[in-house]
Amino acid sequence: MAMSAQAQPNIALIKYWGKRDIVQNLPAVSSLSVTLASLHTRMTVELDDALPDDMLTVNGAAEQVMLTRVTRCLDEVCGSGRARARVASTSNFPIGAGLASSASAFAALVVAADGASGGKRSVAELARIAGHASGSAARSVLGGFVALAAGDRDIAVRELLPLADWPLTVIVAITQTGPKAIGSGSAMIRSAESSPFYSSWVARQDADMACALAAVEERDFAKLAAVAEHNCLKMHSVMWTSRPPIVYWNDATLNCMETIRTLQAAGTGVFFTIDAGPQVKAVCLPGDAAAVRSALADTPGVLRLMESGLGPGARLLSA
Ligand code: DP6
Repeated sequence: MAMSAQAQPNIALIKYWGKRDIVQNLPAVSSLSVTLASLHTRMTVELDDALPDDMLTVNGAAEQVMLTRVTRCLDEVCGSGRARARVASTSNFPIGAGLASSASAFAALVVAADGASGGKRSVAELARIAGHASGSAARSVLGGFVALAAGDRDIAVRELLPLADWPLTVIVAITQTGPKAIGSGSAMIRSAESSPFYSSWVARQDADMACALAAVEERDFAKLAAVAEHNCLKMHSVMWTSRPPIVYWNDATLNCMETIRTLQAAGTGVFFTIDAGPQVKAVCLPGDAAAVRSALADTPGVLRLMESGLGPGARLLSA
């Protein structure tokens, strides 16, 4: 029987950048994110004994590049003796552009695959398996504020607050469309091999995590803003100092940061974060969202805005 699941991308406020184990895809650092509500990936998995191989379509078109990762992920969820699967993925936002499409895709995939094979696995197991496919995907298995502890053996994720406890709005400023020059997975391996700042990035992550966890616990927006911007800029400094350098920003990325700095100076509750792409994510207090939206819309180079509250983790969709 075909089973469908939905997951939303998440935005890291304390970033995952670097792998402790490349083969198993274990992160070198802990991270903290917010799961979004209005962007989503829906994934349908149908196990079929008659199929010779797994098949994948993304937004209706056959897709080969992701298929190996999907097959490995299905093996881990359903066991390697499983029937082959027909997998169909659809997203309502651009793929491969620094908007964490692999996070929502693999979070939805593990939940749909588990449903298709009888629903045997715990949420913690599904998050671990999603993380083996794409580190950030483990966080999209859960909702709201999510902490991912890197740990010595394998990752562990936990939801920090009930969803309604601290509503925030995320406004994404799209500054460029189309796929990025280098994917985050290979970029972070390059950083570990070549940035002189990589080891200090890893060494300082627990301090940033502790600060962000306290900020969430205390609902202290200014504290969260300060540590999230610092952590983001530290990650991009590691990228910039990799060899060859990894620079995802464009003019408009910088313009958006400037807009957000101006808003902050006027007392607006907003901070920025940027991932492996040129889009700027403005995290704001819901009451300040209108001011942030209008300032970003007027920022040179911004193509369009997307907006979302915080949303729940990955879940099965009823048939
Ligand atoms: C910059 O989770 O895409 O978005 O594990 O290789 O699939 P892989 O990497 P991925 O990396 C995300 C990097 C980031 C920061 C973050 O989301 O924490």
